[in-house]
Amino acid sequence: MFKVSDLRFKYPGNKEDTIKGISFGFDKGEIFGFLGPSGMGKSTTQKLLTRILKNYGGEIIYRGKDLKSYDKSIFKDVGVGFEMPVLFTKLTAMENLKFYRDLYPKGAKIKPILERLGLWEDRNKRVAAFSKGMKSRLNFARALINDPEILFLDEPTSGLDPTNARIVKDMISGFRENGGTVFLTTHLMHDVDELCDRVAFIADGEIREISSPKNLKLRYGKREIRLEYREGERLEKAVFDMDTLKENENFFKLLRGKDLVTIHSGETTLDEIFIKVTGVKSDE
Ligand SMILES: Nc1ncnc2c1ncn2[C@@H]1O[C@H](COP(=O)(O)OP(=O)(O)O)[C@@H](O)[C@H]1O
Ligand SMILES: [Mg+2]
Repeated sequence: MFKVSDLRFKYPGNKEDTIKGISFGFDKGEIFGFLGPSGMGKSTTQKLLTRILKNYGGEIIYRGKDLKSYDKSIFKDVGVGFEMPVLFTKLTAMENLKFYRDLYPKGAKIKPILERLGLWEDRNKRVAAFSKGMKSRLNFARALINDPEILFLDEPTSGLDPTNARIVKDMISGFRENGGTVFLTTHLMHDVDELCDRVAFIADGEIREISSPKNLKLRYGKREIRLEYREGERLEKAVFDMDTLKENENFFKLLRGKDLVTIHSGETTLDEIFIKVTGVKSDE
Protein backbone atom coordinates (compact mmCIF):
# COMPACT_ATOMS: atom_id res chain seq x y z
CA MET A 1 0.00 0.00 0.00
CA PHE A 2 2.74 2.43 1.06
CA LYS A 3 6.46 2.07 0.53
CA VAL A 4 8.73 4.73 1.95
CA SER A 5 12.42 4.86 0.99
CA ASP A 6 15.06 7.07 2.53
CA LEU A 7 12.51 9.70 3.55
CA ARG A 8 14.09 12.93 4.75
CA PHE A 9 12.47 16.15 5.89
CA LYS A 10 13.58 19.45 7.40
CA TYR A 11 11.17 22.14 8.64
CA PRO A 12 11.96 25.52 7.05
CA GLY A 13 14.07 27.49 9.49
CA ASN A 14 15.32 24.41 11.37
CA LYS A 15 19.00 23.49 11.14
CA GLU A 16 18.71 19.73 11.31
CA ASP A 17 16.53 17.24 9.49
CA THR A 18 13.56 16.11 11.61
CA ILE A 19 13.26 12.92 9.54
CA LYS A 20 16.67 11.50 8.74
CA GLY A 21 16.29 8.95 5.97
CA ILE A 22 13.71 6.39 7.07
CA SER A 23 12.45 3.39 5.08
CA PHE A 24 9.43 1.22 5.80
CA GLY A 25 6.26 -0.06 4.19
CA PHE A 26 2.86 -1.41 5.05
CA ASP A 27 0.32 -3.53 3.22
CA LYS A 28 -3.40 -3.45 2.64
CA GLY A 29 -5.30 -4.87 5.60
CA GLU A 30 -2.51 -4.18 8.07
CA ILE A 31 -2.47 -2.06 11.23
CA PHE A 32 1.02 -0.56 11.19
CA GLY A 33 2.09 1.05 14.45
CA PHE A 34 4.45 4.02 14.25
CA LEU A 35 5.89 4.39 17.72
CA GLY A 36 8.29 6.61 19.52
CA PRO A 37 8.76 9.23 22.24
CA SER A 38 7.33 12.74 21.92
CA GLY A 39 9.07 15.04 19.49
CA MET A 40 10.77 12.28 17.51
CA GLY A 41 8.98 12.79 14.20
CA LYS A 42 5.84 10.62 14.29
CA SER A 43 3.34 13.35 13.45
CA THR A 44 5.75 14.80 10.89
CA THR A 45 5.93 11.43 9.13
CA GLN A 46 2.14 11.10 9.13
CA LYS A 47 1.89 14.60 7.62
CA LEU A 48 4.34 13.61 4.89
CA LEU A 49 2.39 10.45 4.03
CA THR A 50 -0.87 12.45 3.89
CA ARG A 51 0.71 15.21 1.77
CA ILE A 52 0.17 17.96 4.33
CA LEU A 53 3.93 18.55 4.33
CA LYS A 54 5.79 18.59 1.02
CA ASN A 55 9.36 19.14 -0.11
CA TYR A 56 10.69 15.92 1.31
CA GLY A 57 13.71 13.94 0.19
CA GLY A 58 13.54 10.27 -0.72
CA GLU A 59 10.49 8.53 -2.10
CA ILE A 60 6.95 7.69 -1.04
CA ILE A 61 5.25 5.10 -3.25
CA TYR A 62 1.47 4.68 -2.85
CA ARG A 63 -0.19 1.76 -4.63
CA GLY A 64 2.82 1.39 -6.91
CA LYS A 65 3.05 5.06 -7.96
CA ASP A 66 4.95 8.06 -6.64
CA LEU A 67 2.78 9.93 -4.13
CA LYS A 68 3.66 13.17 -5.94
CA SER A 69 2.07 11.90 -9.17
CA TYR A 70 -1.47 11.78 -7.68
CA ASP A 71 -3.99 14.59 -7.88
CA LYS A 72 -6.42 15.54 -5.10
CA SER A 73 -8.68 12.56 -5.81
CA ILE A 74 -6.27 10.50 -3.67
CA PHE A 75 -7.92 12.05 -0.59
CA LYS A 76 -11.21 10.27 -1.18
CA ASP A 77 -9.56 6.99 -0.07
CA VAL A 78 -7.82 8.45 2.96
CA GLY A 79 -9.14 9.28 6.43
CA VAL A 80 -6.95 11.35 8.72
CA GLY A 81 -7.23 11.79 12.45
CA PHE A 82 -4.94 14.65 13.41
CA GLU A 83 -3.27 14.87 16.81
CA MET A 84 -5.03 18.16 17.49
CA PRO A 85 -8.76 17.90 16.68
CA VAL A 86 -9.59 19.84 13.52
CA LEU A 87 -13.13 21.02 14.26
CA PHE A 88 -15.20 24.17 13.92
CA THR A 89 -16.04 25.06 17.51
CA LYS A 90 -18.94 27.36 16.63
CA LEU A 91 -20.69 24.59 14.69
CA THR A 92 -22.44 21.58 16.19
CA ALA A 93 -21.01 18.06 15.95
CA MET A 94 -23.50 17.24 13.20
CA GLU A 95 -22.72 20.41 11.23
CA ASN A 96 -19.00 19.64 11.44
CA LEU A 97 -19.41 16.11 10.12
CA LYS A 98 -21.82 17.16 7.36
CA PHE A 99 -19.41 19.88 6.27
CA TYR A 100 -16.53 17.43 5.95
CA ARG A 101 -18.65 14.71 4.38
CA ASP A 102 -19.81 17.05 1.62
CA LEU A 103 -16.19 17.61 0.57
CA TYR A 104 -16.03 14.02 -0.66
CA PRO A 105 -17.78 12.15 -3.48
CA LYS A 106 -18.69 9.27 -1.17
CA GLY A 107 -19.73 9.62 2.45
CA ALA A 108 -20.30 7.41 5.47
CA LYS A 109 -23.56 7.30 7.45
CA ILE A 110 -23.15 9.69 10.38
CA LYS A 111 -25.71 8.26 12.80
CA PRO A 112 -24.13 4.83 13.42
CA ILE A 113 -20.69 6.39 13.89
CA LEU A 114 -21.93 8.94 16.44
CA GLU A 115 -24.05 6.34 18.23
CA ARG A 116 -21.10 3.99 18.58
CA LEU A 117 -18.92 6.81 19.92
CA GLY A 118 -21.59 7.88 22.40
CA LEU A 119 -22.04 11.30 20.77
CA TRP A 120 -25.46 10.94 19.12
CA GLU A 121 -27.31 12.64 21.99
CA ASP A 122 -24.89 15.56 21.78
CA ARG A 123 -25.00 15.89 18.00
CA ASN A 124 -26.73 19.29 18.06
CA LYS A 125 -24.44 20.83 20.68
CA ARG A 126 -21.76 23.27 19.63
CA VAL A 127 -18.28 21.76 19.71
CA ALA A 128 -17.16 24.68 21.91
CA ALA A 129 -19.18 23.05 24.72
CA PHE A 130 -17.55 19.64 24.21
CA SER A 131 -15.07 18.16 26.70
CA LYS A 132 -11.58 17.17 25.52
CA GLY A 133 -12.61 13.51 25.27
CA MET A 134 -15.73 14.36 23.26
CA LYS A 135 -13.62 16.42 20.84
CA SER A 136 -11.21 13.49 20.47
CA ARG A 137 -14.08 11.15 19.65
CA LEU A 138 -15.58 13.60 17.17
CA ASN A 139 -12.15 13.99 15.60
CA PHE A 140 -12.05 10.22 15.15
CA ALA A 141 -15.57 10.28 13.65
CA ARG A 142 -14.37 12.96 11.22
CA ALA A 143 -11.58 10.63 10.01
CA LEU A 144 -14.22 8.03 9.10
CA ILE A 145 -16.62 10.44 7.41
CA ASN A 146 -15.56 9.74 3.79
CA ASP A 147 -15.72 5.93 4.30
CA PRO A 148 -11.95 5.68 3.65
CA GLU A 149 -9.81 2.66 2.75
CA ILE A 150 -6.80 3.87 4.72
CA LEU A 151 -6.87 5.55 8.10
CA PHE A 152 -4.04 7.66 9.45
CA LEU A 153 -4.55 8.07 13.17
CA ASP A 154 -2.30 10.27 15.27
CA GLU A 155 -2.64 9.32 18.96
CA PRO A 156 -6.35 8.38 18.58
CA THR A 157 -6.91 7.32 22.19
CA SER A 158 -5.09 10.19 23.89
CA GLY A 159 -7.33 12.05 26.31
CA LEU A 160 -9.95 9.28 26.36
CA ASP A 161 -11.15 7.45 29.45
CA PRO A 162 -10.72 3.64 29.38
CA THR A 163 -14.32 2.99 28.26
CA ASN A 164 -14.10 5.34 25.29
CA ALA A 165 -10.57 4.22 24.45
CA ARG A 166 -11.98 0.67 24.30
CA ILE A 167 -14.72 1.77 21.87
CA VAL A 168 -12.24 3.57 19.60
CA LYS A 169 -9.88 0.56 19.62
CA ASP A 170 -12.74 -1.80 18.76
CA MET A 171 -13.71 0.50 15.88
CA ILE A 172 -10.10 0.49 14.61
CA SER A 173 -10.02 -3.34 14.74
CA GLY A 174 -13.41 -3.47 13.01
CA PHE A 175 -12.17 -1.14 10.28
CA ARG A 176 -9.26 -3.51 9.62
CA GLU A 177 -11.54 -6.58 9.69
CA ASN A 178 -13.54 -4.97 6.89
CA GLY A 179 -10.39 -4.75 4.76
CA GLY A 180 -9.17 -1.32 5.86
CA THR A 181 -5.52 -0.36 6.36
CA VAL A 182 -4.34 1.68 9.35
CA PHE A 183 -1.24 3.76 10.04
CA LEU A 184 -1.37 4.28 13.79
CA THR A 185 0.87 6.75 15.54
CA THR A 186 1.09 6.37 19.29
CA HIS A 187 3.27 6.29 22.36
CA LEU A 188 0.83 4.03 24.27
CA MET A 189 2.23 0.51 24.19
CA HIS A 190 -0.96 -1.05 25.54
CA ASP A 191 -2.87 0.03 22.41
CA VAL A 192 -0.08 -1.34 20.24
CA ASP A 193 -0.19 -4.75 21.89
CA GLU A 194 -3.88 -5.02 21.17
CA LEU A 195 -4.03 -3.59 17.68
CA CYS A 196 -0.84 -3.65 15.66
CA ASP A 197 0.26 -6.32 13.20
CA ARG A 198 3.67 -4.72 12.80
CA VAL A 199 5.39 -1.78 14.39
CA ALA A 200 8.26 0.59 13.70
CA PHE A 201 10.06 2.45 16.48
CA ILE A 202 11.32 5.92 15.61
CA ALA A 203 13.77 7.94 17.69
CA ASP A 204 15.72 11.05 16.69
CA GLY A 205 14.24 10.87 13.20
CA GLU A 206 15.57 7.36 12.53
CA ILE A 207 13.88 3.97 12.55
CA ARG A 208 15.37 1.76 15.24
CA GLU A 209 13.28 -1.42 14.84
CA ILE A 210 10.58 -2.85 12.56
CA SER A 211 8.87 -6.14 13.39
CA SER A 212 5.71 -7.71 14.81
CA PRO A 213 5.07 -7.12 18.54
CA LYS A 214 5.26 -10.90 19.13
CA ASN A 215 8.69 -11.23 17.47
CA LEU A 216 10.02 -8.24 19.37
CA LYS A 217 8.86 -9.64 22.70
CA LEU A 218 10.60 -12.93 21.97
CA ARG A 219 13.75 -11.30 20.67
CA TYR A 220 14.12 -8.82 23.54
CA GLY A 221 12.86 -11.23 26.19
CA LYS A 222 14.78 -13.78 28.24
CA ARG A 223 13.96 -17.50 28.09
CA GLU A 224 13.84 -17.88 31.85
CA ILE A 225 11.49 -18.58 34.77
CA ARG A 226 11.75 -16.49 37.94
CA LEU A 227 10.41 -17.74 41.27
CA GLU A 228 10.00 -16.13 44.65
CA TYR A 229 9.41 -18.41 47.62
CA ARG A 230 9.37 -18.33 51.41
CA GLU A 231 12.28 -19.64 53.40
CA GLY A 232 11.11 -19.26 57.01
CA GLU A 233 10.73 -15.48 57.48
CA ARG A 234 12.80 -14.61 54.40
CA LEU A 235 11.75 -14.15 50.76
CA GLU A 236 14.14 -15.98 48.41
CA LYS A 237 14.50 -15.73 44.63
CA ALA A 238 15.54 -18.26 42.00
CA VAL A 239 15.96 -18.01 38.22
CA PHE A 240 15.88 -21.00 35.84
CA ASP A 241 16.75 -21.36 32.19
CA MET A 242 13.54 -22.20 30.30
CA ASP A 243 15.21 -24.39 27.69
CA THR A 244 16.64 -26.84 30.24
CA LEU A 245 13.75 -26.58 32.69
CA LYS A 246 12.34 -30.07 32.19
CA GLU A 247 15.64 -31.68 33.29
CA ASN A 248 16.22 -29.28 36.19
CA GLU A 249 15.70 -31.20 39.43
CA ASN A 250 16.21 -28.09 41.58
CA PHE A 251 13.25 -26.43 39.89
CA PHE A 252 10.93 -29.35 40.70
CA LYS A 253 12.29 -29.60 44.25
CA LEU A 254 11.47 -25.95 44.79
CA LEU A 255 7.99 -26.35 43.35
CA ARG A 256 7.22 -29.34 45.58
CA GLY A 257 9.01 -28.27 48.75
CA LYS A 258 8.55 -24.51 49.11
CA ASP A 259 5.71 -22.04 49.51
CA LEU A 260 5.75 -20.03 46.28
CA VAL A 261 4.97 -16.31 46.34
CA THR A 262 5.35 -15.44 42.61
CA ILE A 263 6.27 -17.20 39.36
CA HIS A 264 7.05 -15.32 36.11
CA SER A 265 8.44 -16.05 32.66
CA GLY A 266 11.00 -13.64 31.23
CA GLU A 267 9.20 -12.51 28.10
CA THR A 268 9.46 -8.78 27.92
CA THR A 269 6.80 -6.13 27.47
CA LEU A 270 6.51 -3.57 24.71
CA ASP A 271 7.06 -0.88 27.35
CA GLU A 272 10.47 -2.37 28.13
CA ILE A 273 11.30 -2.73 24.45
CA PHE A 274 10.28 0.90 23.92
CA ILE A 275 12.76 2.01 26.60
CA LYS A 276 15.55 -0.21 25.24
CA VAL A 277 15.05 0.81 21.62
CA THR A 278 14.41 4.53 22.08
CA GLY A 279 16.13 5.25 25.38
CA VAL A 280 13.00 7.01 26.70
CA LYS A 281 10.12 5.81 28.88
CA SER A 282 6.90 5.30 26.89
CA ASP A 283 4.64 7.39 29.12
CA GLU A 284 6.74 10.54 28.82
N1 LIG B 1 6.01 23.32 12.23
C1 LIG B 1 7.21 23.00 12.76
N2 LIG B 1 8.29 23.78 12.58
C2 LIG B 1 9.49 23.45 13.11
N3 LIG B 1 9.73 22.34 13.81
C3 LIG B 1 8.67 21.50 14.03
C4 LIG B 1 7.37 21.79 13.52
N4 LIG B 1 6.53 20.78 13.89
C5 LIG B 1 7.28 19.91 14.59
N5 LIG B 1 8.58 20.35 14.68
C6 LIG B 1 9.67 19.65 15.39
O1 LIG B 1 9.88 18.41 14.77
C7 LIG B 1 10.18 17.42 15.73
C8 LIG B 1 9.22 16.25 15.56
O2 LIG B 1 7.89 16.64 15.87
P1 LIG B 1 6.66 15.67 15.72
O3 LIG B 1 6.70 15.03 14.38
O4 LIG B 1 5.44 16.45 16.08
O5 LIG B 1 6.99 14.58 16.83
P2 LIG B 1 6.06 13.46 17.51
O6 LIG B 1 4.78 13.39 16.75
O7 LIG B 1 6.90 12.22 17.42
O8 LIG B 1 5.84 13.89 18.92
C9 LIG B 1 10.09 18.10 17.08
O9 LIG B 1 11.39 18.40 17.50
C10 LIG B 1 9.31 19.36 16.79
O10 LIG B 1 9.71 20.40 17.66
MG1 LIG C 1 2.86 13.65 17.48
